[in-house]
Amino acid sequence: MRKPIIAGNWKMNNTASQGVALVKELAPLVTEANCDVVVCVPAIDIPAVSEAIKDTNIELGAQNVHFAEKGAYTGEISAEMLKEYGVKYVIIGHSERRQYFGETDETVNKRTLTALAAGLTPIVCVGESLEERETGKTEEVLFTQIRDGLKGIEDLTKIVIAYEPVWAIGTGKTATAEQANETIGYIRKTLGELFCPKCAANVRIQYGGSMNAKNCKELMAMEEIDGGLIGGASLKAPDFSKIVNFDK
Ligand code: PGA
Repeated sequence: MRKPIIAGNWKMNNTASQGVALVKELAPLVTEANCDVVVCVPAIDIPAVSEAIKDTNIELGAQNVHFAEKGAYTGEISAEMLKEYGVKYVIIGHSERRQYFGETDETVNKRTLTALAAGLTPIVCVGESLEERETGKTEEVLFTQIRDGLKGIEDLTKIVIAYEPVWAIGTGKTATAEQANETIGYIRKTLGELFCPKCAANVRIQYGGSMNAKNCKELMAMEEIDGGLIGGASLKAPDFSKIVNFDK
């Protein structure tokens, strides 16, 4: 049985005090959640939000982690630094990082292995662009991202995968529930072929891309979809709590 996981990706939104206010509003709305509830916050918000979610069922995630243990990497943040504040999850390879910050499958792989070694749960993002979908390359693109990005992982069930079609992120355009289900099914099948079928059956795969309070029920009802990675709709407690409570 795969426990659903609903994670908010705040991206570069919310100062620490705004973040604290948001999780304080959110906490009482999600106490009955039957899924893992996570907020992935900007690094500088981590100490304050970590304190504010003590004694709640909200867990903490970061949006990136460096692959080196420590050293001369100006501006970067290590897994150990995240762990000290109780961070449990870390988004790796988000399409915005691939697009604007030179993230590649190779660096995704290095970050993922480092996060795992430190006991963090990576949320590894994969997804195709509009052009790739329209030219029939979706499966090929996902295959490469999975093969190269997840290389060397021993226990697949220690990671979460987020399938985020780039054309659906922040555009208000959601993949249909059938499209998302079918593509996540392909990802699971590929994981079974490249790793082991049993791990593939147990790994949690989220959908991300304009998931919101209105469409979450339909998406979450699909067999292959185990959760959501939510950008815009995670910035308002009432909206995000509706997604968390998708089964109510
Ligand atoms: P969105 O972002 O929900 O605003 O489309 C999702 C994401 O980028 O993780």
